[in-house]
Amino acid sequence: NVDHKLEPTSIQHSDVKAQEEVVTYEVNKQVAVIRMGSKPVNAVSSHLKSSIEEKVSEANKDTNVKAIVLMSAIPGFFIAGADITEFKPKTKTEDPTTRLPSRLEGSTKPIVAAIDGFCLGGGLETAMGCTARVATPNSRLGLPELNLGIIPGWGGTQRLPRLIGVKKAMELMLTMKPISGKEAHDLKLVDQLCESNQLLSTAIQLALSIDMSKNIKSLHRQDRLESKAELEQIFAHLEKMVDPRQPQQRQALNAVKAGVTRGGDEGLVAEEEESFNVHKPTAKALQHLFFAERATSKIPNVPAYNKKINSVGVIGGGTMGGGIAIACLENGIKVTLKEVNQKFLDAGLERIKNTFKSKLERKRINQKQFDAALNNLTGTISYEGFQTLDCVIEAVLEIVDLKKSVFKDLSKHCNKECILGTNTSTIDIESIASDLDCRDRIIGLHFFSPANVMPLLEIIRTSHTSNEIIAAGLQLSKQLRKTPVVVKNCVGFAVNRIFFPYGGAAGFLVDRGVHPYRIDKALKNFGFGVGPFRMSDIVGLDVGVMTSNSMKGAYSDRAYDGQLKQIMVDQKRLGDKVGRGYYIKGKPDEEGIADLIKASQNRANNPKPLKNQNEFTDADIQEILLLPVVNEACRVVQENLVYRVSDLDVASVMGMNFPRFRGGIVAWADVFLGAKKTFEKLDRLYQETGMEMFKPCEYLKKCADNNKSLESGL
Ligand code: 3HC
Ligand code: NAI
Repeated sequence: NVDHKLEPTSIQHSDVKAQEEVVTYEVNKQVAVIRMGSKPVNAVSSHLKSSIEEKVSEANKDTNVKAIVLMSAIPGFFIAGADITEFKPKTKTEDPTTRLPSRLEGSTKPIVAAIDGFCLGGGLETAMGCTARVATPNSRLGLPELNLGIIPGWGGTQRLPRLIGVKKAMELMLTMKPISGKEAHDLKLVDQLCESNQLLSTAIQLALSIDMSKNIKSLHRQDRLESKAELEQIFAHLEKMVDPRQPQQRQALNAVKAGVTRGGDEGLVAEEEESFNVHKPTAKALQHLFFAERATSKIPNVPAYNKKINSVGVIGGGTMGGGIAIACLENGIKVTLKEVNQKFLDAGLERIKNTFKSKLERKRINQKQFDAALNNLTGTISYEGFQTLDCVIEAVLEIVDLKKSVFKDLSKHCNKECILGTNTSTIDIESIASDLDCRDRIIGLHFFSPANVMPLLEIIRTSHTSNEIIAAGLQLSKQLRKTPVVVKNCVGFAVNRIFFPYGGAAGFLVDRGVHPYRIDKALKNFGFGVGPFRMSDIVGLDVGVMTSNSMKGAYSDRAYDGQLKQIMVDQKRLGDKVGRGYYIKGKPDEEGIADLIKASQNRANNPKPLKNQNEFTDADIQEILLLPVVNEACRVVQENLVYRVSDLDVASVMGMNFPRFRGGIVAWADVFLGAKKTFEKLDRLYQETGMEMFKPCEYLKKCADNNKSLESGL
């Protein structure tokens, strides 16, 4: 009784405001204790803000009260930030002194923030508006706003530099990574450290000890700012650091600079102006991705999975099997690695052990974690012990018959509840087990190389996979701390499928006279870590040919390789693994590839050069490579293969390193171009070239015709 119906929709995030939102007030030893209990994470909505302000005002009026403690009633969270679901484009700047932190800073009685858990964005800003801060050592404090395309807007750009200095404050904002309570204490951002069970008493004691007549507001502190000469150097360095493609970085810097030079009060006004002028498309794209990432695991009709996956069998100890084993071991899962013979097994186990040794040497893990990981690893060349495993992941060579025989073995040697996963990248999963009675337990668990590093787990459901096994796949991704994207079985699944035209379009451009290095540069400028040709060298050109052959088999109408790839393979320029490909050890090899490029262009014998090579702008190249990817993503939606359009955004960012500040592949087209323009640009390319990869698909056309966004799911 399997439900295969996949319903693409735009993201529906739960209405945080509708959830219980309670702020309580009690007086303890002449201290008003205000507890915030707005589930799930104390996001500061307008309602929570006014409730806190009301209680603070009550405490200020209460003659029995000498001081105030602000804390959370939700374990693990002080405040996760402003409520992002309430964000809407501002129509005018507001008075920054009406923000919660400024209101708290205006209290006549001391307020101590008692922090135990996440204290992020508007949460940290709120804590900095308090007179002092107490925290537990493992709390997490940070200003991650830039990750949402905005800047700290409640005084964070002003108070943080004044509490910990400009250098460290900018580092926290630009890295967007939280620091621990202990680090925050070392930086004097937190005044006192204590354990959870001492939090309230420590905060009360501190609150009662504060003499407001001697208190200097965070906004007006001068003592922790660097000297003028130091600041000049720091700002000069930061000017070079900010990424022009992410305007929010410069705006945060502008606000910090304004505050340091003109004083905290004027700084608040500057921060408000910079906030008002944030680059709206970038903010929209990044906020979309925030919710998209959290939506991928929400699959209708999938039951709760209440078990933990404690043991995984990995079949094949090569590149992928080794990486998968490491990912499991790093997360406390026992691994049984199976290989074909003792020699290969020993080699596979050795590679895994060496990875952990290197982690230990680089102090990424401690001795205890190292011992635990290696104690959890065993190897075998038989199926002994497979009967008790919770899950098996097959990562043998990409050969259909080999995979079939492995699954036949697994159906005999595993228990009736075992999750049977395959890491195949191109083989039709239905075909692997078409005649086995365990097909409801077979699922694609597609990791990306290196499997212990890349954050995406593509989960593929066949027409037989049960909802329970999907739930188990989601559970595995959670335990491995990966983001899952569930997709229906098709050649290439989500990521390889939507990105196959990317390499094709790159080959097409080379045929038309554009140099591979020029293309790589344009895609790097777009935000990819490396361009398509450098990536090809890393993956291996022979692997690329194999993958593109399987894509050609399935999508022959629009698959295209160009001529250069085959010429390179014929010349044994297979990429980094043989020391030379499009590059030599990552360095350009202009001379070495010049004749090969010429040969490929002759072979292409193209009657219609699009334009002169020098006339291609970065944007032209980026669009020629990426618009066919958007088109293919739209086809995936049209074929009802994913649950939400936004799953493809997450898949592109986490599986292909698509720049996250562009929001993901579909969001990029939607936000930065719009459906109509995307359609027109593709259609023009199609008319000019006659290449099917550019021919807009039905779904895209429908969105453009109906003036709907591509994310709408229509
Ligand atoms: N606003 C609204 N909803 C939020 C939220 C926020 N700031 N933070 C989290 N949520 C929601 C999530 O969407 C999720 O909802 P769902 O259950 O419907 O999917 C739920 O709370 C739980 O969140 P997670 O699944 O992310 O829970 P985790 O425990 O894995 O992570 C966290 C907790 C690390 C706090 C993570 O939620 C997080 O990073 N939150 C956002 C932090 C942030 O960016 N803060 C800055 C906000 S912007 C701001 O403050 C502007 C200010 O300068 C004015
Ligand atoms: P690999 O060649 O590095 O490793 C395969 C291993 O499987 C070899 O060590 C081989 O001895 C072993 N093996 C073969 N038959 C076996 C059997 N019956 N029992 C146990 N072990 C057996 O290959 P790689 O790159 O790790 O790929 C494995 C799978 O992962 C393939 O299906 C591939 O398509 C897929 N994949 C590969 C990615 C990559 O970037 N390399 C990315 C995602 C998926």
